[in-house]
Amino acid sequence: MAMRTNVIVVLILCSALASCDAAGGQQAGHGSLVERGVTTFNVLSFGAKPGKQEESTEAFIKAWRAACDFNGNARVLIPPGVYKLSETIFQGPCKSKTPITVLLQGTLQAVSDISAYPGKGWISLDEVDGLILTGGGTIDGQGQAVWPYNDCKTNPDCAHLPASLYFTKVKNAKIKSIHLMNSMGFHMHVTWSYLIRLHSLKITSPDGPNTDGLHISKSNTVKVSRSVIQTGDDCVSVGQGSTNITINQITCGPGHGISVGSLGKLPNEQDVQGLIVKNCTLLGTTNGIRIKTYPASGPSRASGILFKDIIMYNVKNPIVIDQNYGSDSSKPSLVRISDVVYQNIKGTTISPVAISLLCSSQVPCNNVHFHNINLQLTSNIQKLSSTCSNVKVQYTGLQNPPPC
Ligand SMILES: *[C@@H]1O[C@H](CO)[C@@H](O)[C@H](O)[C@H]1NC(C)=O
Ligand SMILES: *[C@@H]1O[C@H](CO)[C@@H](O)[C@H](O)[C@H]1NC(C)=O
Repeated sequence: MAMRTNVIVVLILCSALASCDAAGGQQAGHGSLVERGVTTFNVLSFGAKPGKQEESTEAFIKAWRAACDFNGNARVLIPPGVYKLSETIFQGPCKSKTPITVLLQGTLQAVSDISAYPGKGWISLDEVDGLILTGGGTIDGQGQAVWPYNDCKTNPDCAHLPASLYFTKVKNAKIKSIHLMNSMGFHMHVTWSYLIRLHSLKITSPDGPNTDGLHISKSNTVKVSRSVIQTGDDCVSVGQGSTNITINQITCGPGHGISVGSLGKLPNEQDVQGLIVKNCTLLGTTNGIRIKTYPASGPSRASGILFKDIIMYNVKNPIVIDQNYGSDSSKPSLVRISDVVYQNIKGTTISPVAISLLCSSQVPCNNVHFHNINLQLTSNIQKLSSTCSNVKVQYTGLQNPPPC
């Protein structure tokens, strides 16, 4: 009796531990290996060439296609090594009922020829329901080579360079433990998507123009947390049509801070509704927490926004609402901002106007609440102040700077 129990215990342990069946995998069709019920599609089996100048784009797309068409638990493995890729589209829908894991252990490097990117992304996911992207690897956009083509500072109709990761119509995705660096355009752009969780990311390109860390638009339920973002633009920007967004435990800087917007640039924009930014740290950024809308915009709304437990160090403009952003039109913005709470915001600023709320004369900001604000100027020469227009703020608790 005792012996039989032992055999059963060993069998159970073996099915739970990787070591027991490391050699027990079996080939399941072209380029795949089955282990513990997960079928792995290794990009090397599909012809990827690590360490070569030659592109691996086709091999990556083939490996994805095989995993996506596989009806079962599928995993795409990208082993250590450096892979050159041009525009790579991971197209869904896929057959599996469980999320496909993309295990990125290696480094992906973008080809530095902008004509290789006809679309909006370098690596795009399109219509995928169920994805886990993880593995500790790096996604390097090699942006240094193409940043000179970015003329967005002087040309308002500039073409945006491709986002390193571009998600369209993606549902139920988790992205964690990945390093994104030196993107050509944004590092990540999530649009028309639902239920996206991102955490433990490192995003670095402190010198790149318009290299937002994460831009969200037209998406519902996106949660980004526990990440470090250092970019040449906004760390996270929340664009039109974003609803139920949480930004938690982000360390941002250098960069332009955490923003809602820019809103109102295009006709018929969708509303922003439900955003929580909490427990974030801003280090030496040009702005802290900002809402920006274009003047002369079409009508839309931004409401239900909470900024809570935010720490700033040497931030230039800690709290900003700017409804006259990016243009000097005299026509007011028609983006109606309401129900905005700033709670427990503290730290230091390097310029005397710590709070600047410039709302629209046509649709004034409504129901704005400040609770416990404690900002200090790093030098004692000037006094800290607030400036407001077209807004009535309700103040409770500590207020430093003093209310408008
Ligand atoms: C909003 O997001 C949270 C997760 O952050 C989720 O639990 C909740 O169901 C979402 N609510 C709606 C209405 O989508
Ligand atoms: C805030 O974030 C820090 C890490 O950045 C963490 O240690 C702390 O527990 C968080 N606080 C809350 C209230 O979530």
